Amino acid sequence: MAQIIDGKELAKTIRLSLKEKASEIKQRGIIPKLAVIMVGDDKASRIYVRNKSRACEEVGIEYEEYILNANIKIEELLELIDKLNVDDTIHGILVQSPLPNGLDANEAFKRIDEKKDVDGFNPINVGKLALNQDCFVSCTPYGIVKMLEAYNIKTEGMHAVIVGRSNIVGKPLIQCLLNKNCTVTVCHSKTKNISELTKQADILIATLGKPKFITKEMVKEGAVVIDVGINRLDDGKIVGDTDYENLLDKVSYITPVPGGVGPMTIAMLMNNVIKSASNK
Ligand code: GUN
Repeated sequence: MAQIIDGKELAKTIRLSLKEKASEIKQRGIIPKLAVIMVGDDKASRIYVRNKSRACEEVGIEYEEYILNANIKIEELLELIDKLNVDDTIHGILVQSPLPNGLDANEAFKRIDEKKDVDGFNPINVGKLALNQDCFVSCTPYGIVKMLEAYNIKTEGMHAVIVGRSNIVGKPLIQCLLNKNCTVTVCHSKTKNISELTKQADILIATLGKPKFITKEMVKEGAVVIDVGINRLDDGKIVGDTDYENLLDKVSYITPVPGGVGPMTIAMLMNNVIKSASNK
């Protein structure tokens, strides 16, 4: 029977320790502060952003939200980012993606000062991660690494197979796992015979956004399975990208959805804001 990787509990412990760090920083006269920009009214984004604001409150990070109209021009968004870049009271800037059609999120990410880029999406931080240099690491991959470490899961020499190649999760995860000495394979929508590859995984990460895509037949006995997916079914139930219930008696470790990767992503965002504030 698999051991459940309790991301919710681990994230809580991390937030508690960040709360202590936040109060140390405050004693130096610095109040950590995150600015979040939302453009338009994406339903899922609204929920993510609310969770981020709650976590800030718990850790003792000030939170400022900017909600822009869906039909603004990119210049208006870039102007706001410029303003926040030079505001010394702000330590982290986050532009919630996806942006409405016609607005290029990469333009926004590129504009955020790399020292305030707590999402780790600015090309400078992306490049530094590839070079294994100190930088802001994208929160979901970072949270996954922290989970593997917390559960003493060996990575060196292990074959990690990532299913999904998004800029936010799949691609930065390649670098994170290489830095942990894994052998890394990436599968995506054009990959042939995906299950031939997933069956070779010692560590399998599902981040493709398809409900219950990874079935029992696609995993190796004793594999570690990390499920990044958050999919809402027609009946309102939230499921991951793996067939969780049916994997339980085959794999060694697995993350639940919800309560696995999601809370760790937010905890790592808090970590990055505190890191930025303490760099001041
Ligand atoms: N949209 C989905 N996940 C994320 C995230 O981690 N950061 C931002 N900025 N947008 C997202």
